[in-house]
Amino acid sequence: MTKSESLFNEAVNFIPGGVNSPVRAFGSIGEAPRFIERADGAYMTDVDGNKYLDYVCSWGPMILGHNHPEILKSVLDACKDGLSFGAATRKEVEMAELICEIVPSIEMVRMVNSGTEAVMSAVRTARGYTGRNKIVKFMGCYHGHSDAMLVKAGSGVMTSGVPDSAGVPAGCTEDTLSAIYNDLESVNALFQEMGKDIAAIIVEPVGANMGVVPPSEGFLKGLRELCDKYGSLLIFDEVITGFRLALDGAQGFFGVKPDLTTFGKIIGAGMPVGAYGGRKEIMEMVSPVGAVYQAGTLSGNPVAMAAGLAQLHILKDHPEIYTNLNAMGDWFYAEIDNILKETNANCTINHVGSLGCVFFTENPVDNYASAKTSDTAEFARYCKYMMGHGIYLAPSQFEAMFLSAAHTKPELEQTLEIIKAYFAG
Ligand SMILES: Cc1ncc(COP(=O)(O)O)c(C=O)c1O
Repeated sequence: MTKSESLFNEAVNFIPGGVNSPVRAFGSIGEAPRFIERADGAYMTDVDGNKYLDYVCSWGPMILGHNHPEILKSVLDACKDGLSFGAATRKEVEMAELICEIVPSIEMVRMVNSGTEAVMSAVRTARGYTGRNKIVKFMGCYHGHSDAMLVKAGSGVMTSGVPDSAGVPAGCTEDTLSAIYNDLESVNALFQEMGKDIAAIIVEPVGANMGVVPPSEGFLKGLRELCDKYGSLLIFDEVITGFRLALDGAQGFFGVKPDLTTFGKIIGAGMPVGAYGGRKEIMEMVSPVGAVYQAGTLSGNPVAMAAGLAQLHILKDHPEIYTNLNAMGDWFYAEIDNILKETNANCTINHVGSLGCVFFTENPVDNYASAKTSDTAEFARYCKYMMGHGIYLAPSQFEAMFLSAAHTKPELEQTLEIIKAYFAG
C-alpha cells in the first residue's frame, strides 16, 4: 500500500480530502484510498500492483466489465474524428433514438454530463411544466449534489453523518419535502396537506444510496396513483437502476411508468454522461423550444456518445446479459444470506438483481431509519478484511455492491469463500 499511501499524502495537500468525490475516500474504514492504475474485465489493479475483484464497477457504469473491446474501439475511433465540436452530431441523434426505442416512457431526451445535472434539470422541467414548486423526495435517496436535493440525502452524505450540506441557503430547500421510503402514508400525508403545490415526486425506484433497499409491493404503483390524482409528475431517478435491472430499467422491471426519468452511469459506459427524458409535451418545455433553460458546453460529447452507444447496443443485442446477471445476483446474494445464517451473523442482506448490500444489523432494512441501525464500525472491519483479501468493495455501509457481466461464477465462489472465512471468524 506504500504508493497509494504516499499519493494520498500528496493529494490531501491539493485536493479536498485527497479525492475528487467523497465516496472515494476510505475515511469511514480508516484507510487510505487505493489509487487505481488500470482495470480490465472484473478486476482493478492499484499503483502498488495489488489486484482486486471489483464489486464497485465505477459505481455502476461498468456493467460489461472494464475495458470492453467493442466500447474501447468505438471510443478510440471517435477520438480520431475530434474530441469536441460544441455543435450537433449524428451520434446524438442515434443516442436519442436508441433511448426512446428502449424506454417506452421516453419520447424525447436531453443529454447532460452527470446524474446530478440530469436530476437538477428534470426537477426544473417538472416545476416549469406544472407551474408548481414543491418536490417530494425520500430520506436516504441520493439524487446528486444540487442544492434542492441535499435534504436527508443518502450515499456520501449519509456516510459522513452530515445531514445537510453547508452552503445551501434555506430558501433552496424550503420546497423540498421529505417522505419515508416504502411508506405511502407518509407521502399521502404530504399530498393531503399541499398536493396542489407539489410539482413532482422524485424517487430511486430501488433505493441504492442507503445500501440497497427494494421498493415494497405496491410502493411505486402507489406513488404513480398519487401523482395522477394530484396532477403531479413522477420522476424515476434511474441513474443506478437504468439499463441495469433490465434494458428498460426499473420501470420495465417493476412495470410502473414515470413521467420523467433521469439516467447516468451505464448510459455513458464510464464516460461522464447523464440524460433526462420523458413525454414529448413535458420535454418540449426545455429550451430552446420551451421556457425551461438548460444547456451544456460538452453535453452530447461525441466521444462520450460513442462509448454509451456502443454499450447500449451490446446490451440491447444481448438480452441474455440481463437474464444471466439477474440470475447470478439471485444466486450470489442467496449464498451470502446462507453464510450469514450459518454463522449467526447479526446481518441482513437485501438485493435486487445484480445490486446487493449486507447491512450490519439484524433488523429488516426497508428505509433510511432502519438502514441507519447498521453497525458501521462492524462494516468497516468487514470491508477492510475483504479489501485485504483482494475484494474491492465500496468503503461505506450505505452503498451497493455491483456485479458485472464480466464476473464469473468461479470468481463469485471465491468471493463467497472469503466472506465465509470472515464471518466464521
Ligand atoms: C440515484 C442517483 N442519482 C443521481 C446521482 C448523481 O450522479 P452523478 O454522481 O453522476 O452526478 C447518483 C450518483 O451516485 C445516484 O446514485
